[in-house]
Amino acid sequence: MATDFVHRFVPATVPGRAPLLLLHGTGGNENDLLPLGAAVAPGAALLSPRGQVLENGMPRFFRRLSEGVFDAEDLRHRTDDLAAFIGKARDSRALAAPVALGFSNGANIAASLLLRHPGLLRGAILLRAMVPFRPDDTPRLDGTAALLLSGRADPIVPAANSDMLAELLAQAGATVTHRRLPVGHGLSQADVTLAREWLATL
Ligand code: MLT
Repeated sequence: MATDFVHRFVPATVPGRAPLLLLHGTGGNENDLLPLGAAVAPGAALLSPRGQVLENGMPRFFRRLSEGVFDAEDLRHRTDDLAAFIGKARDSRALAAPVALGFSNGANIAASLLLRHPGLLRGAILLRAMVPFRPDDTPRLDGTAALLLSGRADPIVPAANSDMLAELLAQAGATVTHRRLPVGHGLSQADVTLAREWLATL
């Protein structure tokens, strides 16, 4: 079934921490972000699915027509499949609402989850995210927190696009923190530090 994602699950060792939903970038897999998850939320449960789309053999969470141009219909149904997987994983493992930690393509589907399934996520850390789609109706995201970490020299995500995503989430009522780092599309130590500090405030 499309909602049966290949995934890794690491149980919590510290009670009371929100579980992390780890969403890798293009060409990654379910193992990639486990060390990052453990670094930013030590002891939290980690749920890490692998994207089901293959682009030239590289796993992704939804199809794109070209760099930064997304297949809207595919994104819609992949977002719904991932939401169903999260719901099932929460039920079977008695998990609280997770905080997504997504990088690049994973951050983009995390943003899509926020916009299409308000209330599913406790919050989201969006690393190098862009606007996944423009919703017809603004969802209500009061009580949801989002940390956007963008790269000032990111060749894939224009500054105006990540600003627009921050604005879209804030308009929906989410508590948004947007930091622009002196980096490109790749991750840096500052991402780890800022994500850990932000999670500690949730
Ligand atoms: C995407 O396709 O989601 C973004 O362009 C990021 C990427 O995967 O390169």
